[in-house]
Amino acid sequence: MDMSYFFANWKMYLTVDDSLALAKQVAQMALPTGLTCAVFPNTLAFTGVAQALSGSAWQLGAQDVFSTPQGAYTGATSALMFKDVGAKYALVGHSEKRYVFGESDDDVRKKVVACVETGLRPVVCVGETEEDRRDDKRQYRLKKQLLKVVSDLSFNSGSVFVAYEPIWAVGTGDPCSPADADDVAGWIKLELKNYTDSAVSVLYGGSVTSENVADYYARESVDGVLVGSASVNAHELAVMLKALS
Ligand code: PGA
Repeated sequence: MDMSYFFANWKMYLTVDDSLALAKQVAQMALPTGLTCAVFPNTLAFTGVAQALSGSAWQLGAQDVFSTPQGAYTGATSALMFKDVGAKYALVGHSEKRYVFGESDDDVRKKVVACVETGLRPVVCVGETEEDRRDDKRQYRLKKQLLKVVSDLSFNSGSVFVAYEPIWAVGTGDPCSPADADDVAGWIKLELKNYTDSAVSVLYGGSVTSENVADYYARESVDGVLVGSASVNAHELAVMLKALS
């Protein structure tokens, strides 16, 4: 795959003011050739960040979406609403949504379908727990999470990303090694070939920093990275982009 992706997940790290201040700095950062970069800000900061990035090559994504377009769903924001305010991508099934907020594989599937129908490109996050890893259940867990989604892949799956984010590596400072992440990304692509002819881009996420980011890009099956905490620091962000230039 020739296109590479750099996705910055700002989670709930920043206040609205801090998000806007960082977005203004981000808008000034030159993007490496061939790299598609997007910021995933907090919902409340979304429109402000979109404004700050307008005119730059940076794109935008939602951290989560609800599957029904509109209605009596207190606290929810739909894929359609994010699309309306400029989102191009949406994270779906992030481990923090699955394990902190109790999102099921079926919830994830509905959100993926909603994104595709709305015209957002979903980034389906999958990953095994520390316990799965210990019990040698990585492939079992990933297959279970992926199959639920691909069972509905009657749409153009070329618009779908899979982000391999092992839970033991997210926010821990203990990344999955680039070689291991590459093996898993390759395995995910092979598995998905059983369900779709279109190529699915696979990203890696979990403790990516300026120290290791270039190493993931150098791998054959990894098409990009999803970066959390390292992406909310302007200096670190600039150093990561430089490492990819
Ligand atoms: P991290 O988070 O880079 O802070 O480990 C990655 C993610 O959750 O997307």
